[in-house]
Amino acid sequence: MKIPINLYNSLGMALIALLMMAACSPPPTKVSDLAKMQVSRTVQTEQGSPSQELTGVQELPGDEHGDKGAATANKSLARKIASGKQIYVNNCLACHQASGEGIANAFPPLSNSDYLNADVDRAIGILLHGLRGEITVNGNKYNSIMTRQHLSNEEVADVLTYVYNSWDNNKTDVSAARVEAVRSKH
Ligand code: HEC
Repeated sequence: MKIPINLYNSLGMALIALLMMAACSPPPTKVSDLAKMQVSRTVQTEQGSPSQELTGVQELPGDEHGDKGAATANKSLARKIASGKQIYVNNCLACHQASGEGIANAFPPLSNSDYLNADVDRAIGILLHGLRGEITVNGNKYNSIMTRQHLSNEEVADVLTYVYNSWDNNKTDVSAARVEAVRSKH
């Protein structure tokens, strides 16, 4: 097989020639061109990211159950609810269902849930640590296991804020700081 070997040889020669050229330092004009390219690249920065669409979310001022919203500052309630809805769809919907109705004898409801509304810190704890054993929700007993959810403080705050502000629950605005407080107790 002479032809391929010759081919390799000439390819090898070409490679060596290329390497030698590369070894020589490039002329100064090229260097400054390169520098310019670098600069123009770094100047191209991204514009602000598009703001999130807020859909189907209800505003809540002055509810009879009392809202704790105003105090929790830098992320608006509407934004928390919108992001919480997405987290719910990805992490909770499969068991607790699209409208929080749950599944009889298997997954307790989150809609109008007396258990949920009775204790916000307990609900935070369920997401952080999971829950097992018998509980009674709206008069029905459940005795199963919910595994802990691998969510950040902000995600837990958002998803619970969404749940609390949906389906006739008590409209609590859960802050990431409150989630952290529960997390640090255990
Ligand atoms: C794999 C199924 C499953 C997933 C996913 C799941 N849960 Fe649960 N959840 C359960 C079960 C089962 C219980 C009841 C556990 C028991 O019987 O002790 C429960 C109980 C609860 C309770 C307390 C009872 C009530 O109805 O108020 C809350 C609050 C809750 N889950 C919220 C959530 C939220 C929010 C998410 C998503 C971040 C989530 N769960 C994801 C299965 C699940």
